[in-house]
Amino acid sequence: MTGRLPGRSGLTEALGDPRAEPDLEWVAALTGATKIAVGRTLEELTARTELIERIRTQHREAGRDFYAQIPAPFDLYALTRLTGASELVETGVSSGVSSTFFLLGLERNGGGRLHSIDMPTRTGTSPVRLPPGKDTGWVVPSALNGRWDLQLGPSEALLPELVHELRQVDLFLHDSLHTPDHLRFELATVRPRLRPGSLVLADNTNWTGRAFPEFARSLGGKVFARRNSQLQGFRVPPARAARRHG
Ligand SMILES: C[S@@+](CC[C@H](N)C(=O)[O-])C[C@H]1O[C@@H](n2cnc3c(N)ncnc32)[C@H](O)[C@@H]1O
Repeated sequence: MTGRLPGRSGLTEALGDPRAEPDLEWVAALTGATKIAVGRTLEELTARTELIERIRTQHREAGRDFYAQIPAPFDLYALTRLTGASELVETGVSSGVSSTFFLLGLERNGGGRLHSIDMPTRTGTSPVRLPPGKDTGWVVPSALNGRWDLQLGPSEALLPELVHELRQVDLFLHDSLHTPDHLRFELATVRPRLRPGSLVLADNTNWTGRAFPEFARSLGGKVFARRNSQLQGFRVPPARAARRHG
């Protein structure tokens, strides 16, 4: 059984990168939803095909023959929808593909806010370098800006301030500087705002050693790895979180 439902591969085609094919099992494992429910949620995105095609075109026009760095934009949408996450935090935006799909999920949820932190890369040969004349989040449609709090600068400085202002973090995505120490720092910073059921995600875990699984274990969470990528996630289990919060 592949878990394929009509329309989903159409989304991947519209975005122009086979890496984006959603992993239904992964989303189901993290949310507790059935694969059928995950597929139905993803189907909602077929109404946004034009927007998705525009993201592909914008990247190609800017000289990128691949759309982005996050391998799972559609999965992020489904995770936002199926958990009903309200306060989302991500580090690492670049052109804004992950941000766009989080924001689409929040729009459809009818509430919530995405807090994104990015220290733009403007020089060098990194694939995440902004094209000349572009700013962080340049593919995020302006119609989605209402729920978006974008802060520019190093997460070392900005994340502690942001977390201090938030009451809780329902979903956290690390996609900034992929070193073990930096990932540990970001996870330790958001930890006081995690609650039972919060979802914690990290990309490029092949570069961050044991930092992610160790953090998950410290909270009693079970790590699920996304297929064909280095993106991993876990939910904060209710019992452990309840004990931690007294
Ligand atoms: C892999 S890209 C993010 C990709 C994005 N999530 C997407 O979906 O396309 C990483 C981004 O993090 C930024 N970055 C690197 N180090 C950072 C740091 N210490 N704090 C905040 N952002 C950082 C990079 O400049 C780049 O814009």
